[in-house]
Amino acid sequence: IQGFDFENDVPVPKSLKIGMFHKKWKFHRDIPSTSVFAFGTSKHTATIPGPTIEALNNVDTYVTWRNLLPKKHILPWDPTIPTAIPANKKGIPTVVHLHGAIGEPQSDGHPQSWFTAQFKEKGPTWTKKQYRYINRQQPGNLMYHDHTEGLTRVNLLAGLLGAYIISHPEIEAPLGLPHGDEFDRPLIVFDRSFRIDGSLFMNSTGNNPSIHPQWQPEYFGDAIIVNGKAWPRMIVRRRKYRFRIINSSNARFFKFFFTNDLGFIHVASDSAYHERPVMLKEILLAPSEIADVIVDFSKSKSNSVILGNDAPYPYPSGDPVNESNNKVMKFLIKQEQEVDSGRVPKMLIKYPSADLSSASETRYIVMYEYTSNIGEPTHLYLNGKSYEKPVTETPKVGTTEVWNVINLTGDNHPLHIHLGLFVVLDQTELVDIDEFKQCMMKMNDAIKCQISKYARGKRMEVLSHEMGWKNVYKMTPGYVTKILVRFSYIHSNASYSFDATAEPGYVYHCHILDHEDNVMMRPMKLIK
Ligand code: C2O
Ligand code: CU
Repeated sequence: IQGFDFENDVPVPKSLKIGMFHKKWKFHRDIPSTSVFAFGTSKHTATIPGPTIEALNNVDTYVTWRNLLPKKHILPWDPTIPTAIPANKKGIPTVVHLHGAIGEPQSDGHPQSWFTAQFKEKGPTWTKKQYRYINRQQPGNLMYHDHTEGLTRVNLLAGLLGAYIISHPEIEAPLGLPHGDEFDRPLIVFDRSFRIDGSLFMNSTGNNPSIHPQWQPEYFGDAIIVNGKAWPRMIVRRRKYRFRIINSSNARFFKFFFTNDLGFIHVASDSAYHERPVMLKEILLAPSEIADVIVDFSKSKSNSVILGNDAPYPYPSGDPVNESNNKVMKFLIKQEQEVDSGRVPKMLIKYPSADLSSASETRYIVMYEYTSNIGEPTHLYLNGKSYEKPVTETPKVGTTEVWNVINLTGDNHPLHIHLGLFVVLDQTELVDIDEFKQCMMKMNDAIKCQISKYARGKRMEVLSHEMGWKNVYKMTPGYVTKILVRFSYIHSNASYSFDATAEPGYVYHCHILDHEDNVMMRPMKLIK
C-alpha cells in the first residue's frame, strides 16, 4: 500500500488512516464468532491480524491510528499494576508501536502516549495524531502492535497487532527469493483460549488475588492461531515459498519443525537479513521474534506436512506441549512438479559486523522476579526498578554499547530494545548463582557483587542464524548474555536522520507481554 507516482516514476509518501474496531471474528468453523479488537481501514474490512503494511525503503509512511473502540474492554485487566487509566474512567486507552522501527520518539508509540476514542483523553506523553515512519533502515520485517502502559497484554490478546514490511527492491530483487503475494507471506502465530460461546478466555483471577486481583505472570492459550485462523491449512505448490514467521503470542515460545523431512532455509532474523542463508530443522521463536524463512515444498516426499511445535511453556522448564498446542498448521502439497523461478543465493546482505572495541559504555541489566508469601510471582523488574523510576539508560546517539543482561529468574525472557539493533556476543552461565543473587537482592549492583567472579560457567554458543543484527533476543535463565547495541543505522555510518533525543524517548523491555505490563520495562532516553 506504499504510494507510487507512475507518471514520474517515483515513490511518494503515503498517508494511511487505520482504525481499531470492536467486531466479531471467526477463528474456526467450529468456534462461534469471537468479539475482538481489530485494525483496519473500516470496521467491515478490519482483520485479525491487521492489514500488512508494505513500505518502501527511504519513503515516508504516515499513519493516523484511530481509536474507535467502545467504552469497556472485552477482557479483564488489573488496575493494581501501573496502568493507563483515563481520568473520566471511560474508554480504552491504546497507542501503536512499530516494533523494529528506527524512527522518531514522537511516533514510537510510547506506553504513556496513549489516547482513548476520538482522542478524547490522552496520556501524559501524547504528542500527535499522525505518526511518521521514515523507513530509512535496512529492509526487513516489523510488526505494529498496541503498547499501552499496563494494557499491552490485553490489547494484543484482543487482536491489536499486524505485520509491517520494509522492502528495498534494489537490494532485494537481485537476491531472487520467492516473491509476490502468492509465494511470500507473513505467518503471524499466537495462542488463544476460547469459551464455549466463542469469546476469548483470559483468567479474571490473578495468582495473588489479594495483591493483584487479575494479573497473571503468563497467558497461555489452548488453540494455535495462524493469520487469524485456528490450526489452518494451506494448499501449496511444489516449489519454494517465503514465510515471514512472527510470534505474536503474549508468552508462548514456539519451537517450529516439520513432521516430515522438510526444513527451513533461514534468511533473516527480526528486522534484518543475515549474511548467508542457514539450513535449520527447527526454529525457536520467543514472543515478538521473527524468522524469515524459505521452505522448498518440492523437496517433500509426502503430499501433506504439519508445522509442529514442541516448546515447553513457560520456556524452558514449564509444561510440555500437548495434543492441541503441538500443531501449528498443515500444508497440503500439490502433486504436479513445477518450474521454480525462486532461488536462494549463497550470500544475502552483509552489514558491518559488531565491533566490540567501538563500545563507549558498558551496562548491566538485571532481571528479577519477586514472589509473594504464597510463592506466586507478584511482579518482575529490570535492575530492581519499577518503570516509573527516573531513566537510567541514556545512550549517546551514534554510539554502540555493551549490555550484559543477567537473568536471575527461572524463565527465559525475550529482551527487546526500541530503536537499537544488537548483536549477541556471548552467553555465560553464572556459577554459585544463589550466592550472587543474595548479594544482588541486597546491593542491586552487579559490579559490587563481583559479577566477574560468578560469570565463569558454561558458555552457550550463539546459533549461526542468530548471529546477525536483532532487536529481541532470548535471555537464558541463570546466564549473562552480552550484547552489543548500536544506536545508529547498521547499513551505513550515517547517524539517525531524525532527532532521537526528542521527548518522550523510548523503552526497552521483556516481550512476554504479561511481564512487560508488571513491569519488566524501563524508559530509555537518547542524548547528544
Ligand atoms: Cu514489540 Cu516495545 O515492543
Ligand atoms: Cu519476561
